[in-house]
Amino acid sequence: MAAHVIQTDPAGTVAALADVLVARAADAVQQRGVCHIALSGGSTPEQLYRLLASTEWSVRFQWPAIQLWLGDERCVPADHAESNYRMVQSSLIDRMGSNAPPLHRVRTELGAEAAAVDYQRRLLAHLPASQHIPRFDIILLGLGMDGHTASLFPDTAVLHERERLVSAVASPQLARARITFTYPLINAGRAVYFLVTGAEKAPVVAQLLGPSAINTRFPAAHIAPAGELCWYLDQPAASELPS
Ligand code: 6PG
Repeated sequence: MAAHVIQTDPAGTVAALADVLVARAADAVQQRGVCHIALSGGSTPEQLYRLLASTEWSVRFQWPAIQLWLGDERCVPADHAESNYRMVQSSLIDRMGSNAPPLHRVRTELGAEAAAVDYQRRLLAHLPASQHIPRFDIILLGLGMDGHTASLFPDTAVLHERERLVSAVASPQLARARITFTYPLINAGRAVYFLVTGAEKAPVVAQLLGPSAINTRFPAAHIAPAGELCWYLDQPAASELPS
């Protein structure tokens, strides 16, 4: 079973993850002078981002040496209710004032395909690449009930992408196009952390982390970074795991 940390509730889970983020960010800055973090979208991480922006926690990060990116984005304007950029702006950036680090926005106004090409170009310009793939210091991921992560959705072509680092995703199951990190980029990460809370995620968590062998149909099952991988779960999300 993959490494995982289970806490009683979402507050305890995000605090445990925040603790590790402090340590990993400090290591990255000490070793390379910079820490590149890819943030997950959706609703779960908002509580984490608000915690990181709080006075108690914000002082534990060397924000001038940190660069923030988005692991995926919906193809909507930056001020749209579904924008991950807007969610991170409101839950983290806007709460930090002048201490706020750069948050690299996906230029969705270019259209999904061009925005993906643009984001990949910018990533390659900013991050040191080993074997032509930039290595993020930290990648945060969420999990959908269908086993998707980032915008790697079941039955989409992006699951088979092995060259591009950032791709556009279109699917009848999606209300709108998306832009996402691909498996090559995510799996090059030095540290990849899933943050999953809530009882509604328990069945998919059990199929991904439990002993059953049917998990390979879930996109999240193919997240296998060369670096660290750990799942941060609250008890409701972990409630169907074998004890
Ligand atoms: C997104 C996310 C996506 C998310 C899961 C879980 O843009 O929606 O990147 O992968 O992490 O869908 O979303 P919730 O946290 O809202 O359950």
